[in-house]
Amino acid sequence: MKTSLPLLPLAFLLLGACAQEKKIDTKTQTESASKVLAEQKIAEAKTIYDTNCASCHDTGMTDAPKPGDTEEWNKRMAQGFDVVINKSIEGFEGKKGTMPAKGGNENLSESEITKAVSYMSGRLK
Ligand code: HEC
Repeated sequence: MKTSLPLLPLAFLLLGACAQEKKIDTKTQTESASKVLAEQKIAEAKTIYDTNCASCHDTGMTDAPKPGDTEEWNKRMAQGFDVVINKSIEGFEGKKGTMPAKGGNENLSESEITKAVSYMSGRLK
């Protein structure tokens, strides 16, 4: 009888390992599902950007902040995300150039502007 005792902890260990494996499995599934969602979000935001904003912002003409220019976006975002969104919706006069209201497309919704700005500023990852 004594010889079977050391097997007991081993059995628990195995049970534990199985339970853990299951946990990791569902976690991986949730992670890949949210990754797909995130990729869809980025694709949607990029399309809005490409269609409405890229003409000025891709080249950075007249100080239009370029996507991926982290330093520049950090400076802009220091005003507060809401302020930046409002300025994009209403438009404003810069030192060198004008940011037109909604990038010149009045059909864009606030949510679409928010998506485009999130994309440009690197908030969507
Ligand atoms: C006709 C050119 C043009 C288009 C099109 C355009 N922008 Fe701009 N945008 C500018 C310029 C120029 C600035 C910089 C003004 C400054 O700060 O001197 C700017 C600045 C910005 C800023 C920074 C705001 C801040 O508070 O500093 C955001 C955000 C922005 N644009 C978003 C967008 C979005 C979103 C679109 C598309 C829906 C878009 N822009 C389309 C020219 C444009």
